[in-house]
Amino acid sequence: MNDVVIAPSILAADCGRLNEEIKEVEKETSFLHIDVMDGHYVPNLTFGVPIVESIRKATNMVFDVHLMVTNPMDFFKPFADAGADMLTFHVETVEDPDAAIEAIRKLGKRAGISIHPDTPIEKVFPYAAKCDLVLVMTVRPGFGGQHFMESSIDRIKAVRKVIDEANANTIISVDGGICDETAPRVVEAGAGYLVAGSAVFSNKDHASAIKELRSCAMS
Ligand code: DX5
Ligand code: ZN
Repeated sequence: MNDVVIAPSILAADCGRLNEEIKEVEKETSFLHIDVMDGHYVPNLTFGVPIVESIRKATNMVFDVHLMVTNPMDFFKPFADAGADMLTFHVETVEDPDAAIEAIRKLGKRAGISIHPDTPIEKVFPYAAKCDLVLVMTVRPGFGGQHFMESSIDRIKAVRKVIDEANANTIISVDGGICDETAPRVVEAGAGYLVAGSAVFSNKDHASAIKELRSCAMS
């Protein structure tokens, strides 16, 4: 089995010590998940461009920027310039997902498409094989620390099937409620990239939490 990627979500980090928190997780993974929320697409506000610009100076980790905003296309360039490596938008938020994917690629970044748990999974099928990553949300986006939605397993399997049938290399990412118990189940269903907030940052030893999550995921 290929190595499973664990991407800590800084939504659960101690933001007053953000650079130190990043140094801790960097010991065990090279991917960092950054949740951008606008108070419209989701009922919460989080990080903007200046934060990404600032933490970019502190680490070489791959920045995976998850855009939970109503107008993601306005922000591809600002976040790319700030140091994002991967840009993920929600299928619900753009009129033309193909154009959004192309816009991200034009910036030289990896393109991700995400889908809300309340949106029929078929909506993402036409774009799955065209993206670097499909992010199947496993909670309703907006907040950390929620329970994993069981219906996600079948949704991951459905996307896996579409990607395999197209012979594509697209990675399936999951986000929300990922812990030692859910990790092996999402991997079995076809995910290879696991975002984890609480599971990583609620453990004082963030690096060993990542290690444990990875080993559960691959068991
Ligand atoms: C939720 C965010 C997640 C969040 C996950 O909308 O997209 O990235 O940080 O948090 P946990 O792992 O605590 O469910
Ligand atoms: Zn996220």
